[in-house]
Amino acid sequence: MKTLLLGQTLGFTGNPMRQDWQDVTHHNRHGAVLVEDGKIQAVGPAQDLRQAHPIANCVDYGEKLIVSGFVDAHVHYPQTAIIASWGKRLIDWLNTYTFPEETRLADADYAKAVAETFFDIMPKFGTTTVASYCTSSPVSVDAFFTAASARNMRVAGGKTCMDRNAPDGLSDTAQRAYDESKALIERWHGVGRNIYAITPRFSPTSTPDQLQVLGDLWAENPSCLMQTHISEQVEEIAWVRDLFPDARDYLDTYERFGLLGARGVYGHAIHLEPREVDQLADVGAAVVHCPTSNTFIGSGLFDMGLSQRLNVGLATDIGGGSSFSMLRTMAAAYEVGQLRGNPLHPAQLMWLATEGSAQSLHLGGVVGHLGQGAEADICVLDLASTPAIAQRNAQANDIWEALFPTIMMGDDRAIADVWVAGERLSQD
Ligand code: GUN
Ligand code: ZN
Repeated sequence: MKTLLLGQTLGFTGNPMRQDWQDVTHHNRHGAVLVEDGKIQAVGPAQDLRQAHPIANCVDYGEKLIVSGFVDAHVHYPQTAIIASWGKRLIDWLNTYTFPEETRLADADYAKAVAETFFDIMPKFGTTTVASYCTSSPVSVDAFFTAASARNMRVAGGKTCMDRNAPDGLSDTAQRAYDESKALIERWHGVGRNIYAITPRFSPTSTPDQLQVLGDLWAENPSCLMQTHISEQVEEIAWVRDLFPDARDYLDTYERFGLLGARGVYGHAIHLEPREVDQLADVGAAVVHCPTSNTFIGSGLFDMGLSQRLNVGLATDIGGGSSFSMLRTMAAAYEVGQLRGNPLHPAQLMWLATEGSAQSLHLGGVVGHLGQGAEADICVLDLASTPAIAQRNAQANDIWEALFPTIMMGDDRAIADVWVAGERLSQD
C-alpha cells in the first residue's frame, strides 16, 4: 500500500555543520512524502507526487512540518525511573541513584516494565531510534530488544559491562562480560531492526582485562557498534589517570585494548586532548553531545567545533539528561553553543538530532533521513502547539523563524504524529 503524507517537509542532502546550511537544506511549503513497504520512496512537491501516485492513500497534515524521526544517540533506558534526581557530581550521582536503580533491573519483570515505559515515552517525543545502554544483567538487554522489536523500532543497545568500582549486584568479570555479550550478540544483533553495541560503561568500571576481552569481542564482531563514555568530568579524568598510569590519556585506555574504531561511539567527549581528537578523527569515530546532561550534572560545555573533524551525534543521556525530548535537547545544544560563542542555526540543530545522530551510529541514509531509500521513521511537528508558541509562530517570516520557537519551547505537545517503519503509531 502506498501512503502520501502531505504537509511542509524538511530534509537534508549534506552536512550543515561543514557546508553552508542553505546549500544542503530542503524545505517544501507544500511537500509530500511517499511511503511504501516501510521505506520512504520519494520526497517532493505535493502536486507532483499526487499526480504520479493517484491511488496512494493521503494523510494531510496541512501546515504541520514533516521531518525524520529523531535519533537519540546515547541514552540509558534503565535510568528512566530516576530521571531528574538531585545530585552533586557524576560519581556521586552514579553511586547514589544510578547503580541502585540499575541493580533492580536484574529482575526480569521490573526490566520489562521499565523497557515498556521507556519505549512508550520515546515516540511521544518524536524519537524513533535510540542507542541505549542496558545494565550488566543480560535480562535487561532482552527486555530492551524485546520491547523495541514489539514496536519495530530500529535501536542499538548492549549489556553495560563493569568488573570493578561498582556494587556487587552490578559487577561481572572479564570472562562473564565476554560470554554474556557474545551470547547477546548472537541473540539480537541483526535480528529485525536491532543492532548490538558492545558496551564497556567507562574505563573506571572496567579492569584492563575486561577492556581487552571486549576489544577482542569487537574484533570478532566488527559490524557491532561499541559505545562508552569519555572525558565527561574533570574528576573522572583524574580518576582514569590514577587507574591507568601508563595511558597517554583517557582515549588511550580504550585504544590500547582494541576499543577505538570507526563504529565506536564515545559519549560526552567534553574535555578531550588534541591527541584524542586526532585519533578519533583518524579512525572516523563518533562523539555524542549530551547537553542537558552536561549542564544537569555540571560536566562542562561541549565544543561543537569538533563537528568539523568528527561525526557528532546528539543525545538526551537519560537519566543524567533531564529530558526525554530531543526538542529540549536541541534547545540545550543551542544554549551551550551560545555560551561557547557558537550559535547553532535551527537547520544545524535539526540535522544533529536526525542525520548527525544517525551517522554517528553508522546509520546514515538508513534512519534520520527524510529522503528516498530511508526507512520510514517520521515525525510530524505542530509548529503552533501551545498558545505561547503559536503567537510567536504567527510572526514568522520563513520556516526557520517558524520552527525555532518549537525547538526552544516545544515538548511532547509539538509531536503531532509519528510513523515507525511506515506504520502510523496511534497517539493516545
Ligand atoms: N559515566 C559512566 N556511566 C554513566 C552514566 O550512567 N551516565 C552518565 N552521564 N555518565 C556516565
Ligand atoms: Zn551516558
